[in-house]
Amino acid sequence: MTARKIIIDTDPGQDDAVAILLAFGSPELEVLGITCVAGNVPLAKTQRNARIICELAGRTDMPVFAGASRPMVRPLVTAEHVHGKSGLNGPELWDPTMPLRKEHAVDFIVKTLRLNRDGAVTLCVLGPLTNIALALIKAPDIAEHIHEIVLMGGGSFEGGNITPMAEFNIYVDPHAAKVVFQSGVPLVVMPLDLTHKTITTRKRVARFKDMGSKAGVFTAEMLSFFERFDQEKYGSEGAPLHDPNVIAYLLKPGIYAGRELNIEIETESALCLGATVVDWWRVSGRAPNAMFMRDVDDDAFFELLFERIATLK
Ligand code: RIB
Ligand code: CA
Repeated sequence: MTARKIIIDTDPGQDDAVAILLAFGSPELEVLGITCVAGNVPLAKTQRNARIICELAGRTDMPVFAGASRPMVRPLVTAEHVHGKSGLNGPELWDPTMPLRKEHAVDFIVKTLRLNRDGAVTLCVLGPLTNIALALIKAPDIAEHIHEIVLMGGGSFEGGNITPMAEFNIYVDPHAAKVVFQSGVPLVVMPLDLTHKTITTRKRVARFKDMGSKAGVFTAEMLSFFERFDQEKYGSEGAPLHDPNVIAYLLKPGIYAGRELNIEIETESALCLGATVVDWWRVSGRAPNAMFMRDVDDDAFFELLFERIATLK
């Protein structure tokens, strides 16, 4: 079976890191490269963190690229209050020695899609959509070569997590999100309505720790730090584990359920900037442009995570 080709665009972030480890532990996927964007923490840290995760997983062969250092129009908003100053607070970190590629992330995305034509590559987007939008603007021809974009972002019935109406990834760069949602590329969206159903309970974090491997213990330490903020905010036993749902969907699509519908992005209103206007009841008459996932078998999701991360040293 040929592995599915993917590019992971990311702003690590502990949950991004777990998503990358899941991909590395899954032979069904061929990660062509990791492209980094400013988001949870500034770009200098997201590209550093991506290389730390690659070194942790023994994947120093992985091409890692730096992309946009700020959103298309808005000033950068970061989330150190959630992820800590480093973006990967929790475990002991180190200065990575594997190289950061010189090529800009956007150029890598464009070049790779032009080399792998006819829908061979899936874009897995775990942070603000700046790199993806810039690639689509720079090279509109790539749209037809993207198999689909699977992204973590947005929310509807669940509201927002950075403002009452907006989820962080969309809020940071709503103009980029608008470009992507209007691109016509097939979209699969993992919103807060879904990721708030995959919660890192004590028992689940302990399962990573009990693996005893570097990757398992590192994951448990990341999640123990990452969950403290959301536990307080939501009063839940753990924290929503957002980004790994993007990778898990590629591996086990059957554990997810959603609806094809129209999603528009609010880019004008100060109060609702970055809101995903999700037409769940199909009242707008606007054509569907995304698969909006709303349900997941969370036990199956975590069992997949345990199984695959346990394969890493
Ligand atoms: O709102 C959650 C999203 O914002 C996740 O991707 C998290 O890593 C941050 O990027
Ligand atoms: Ca992220």
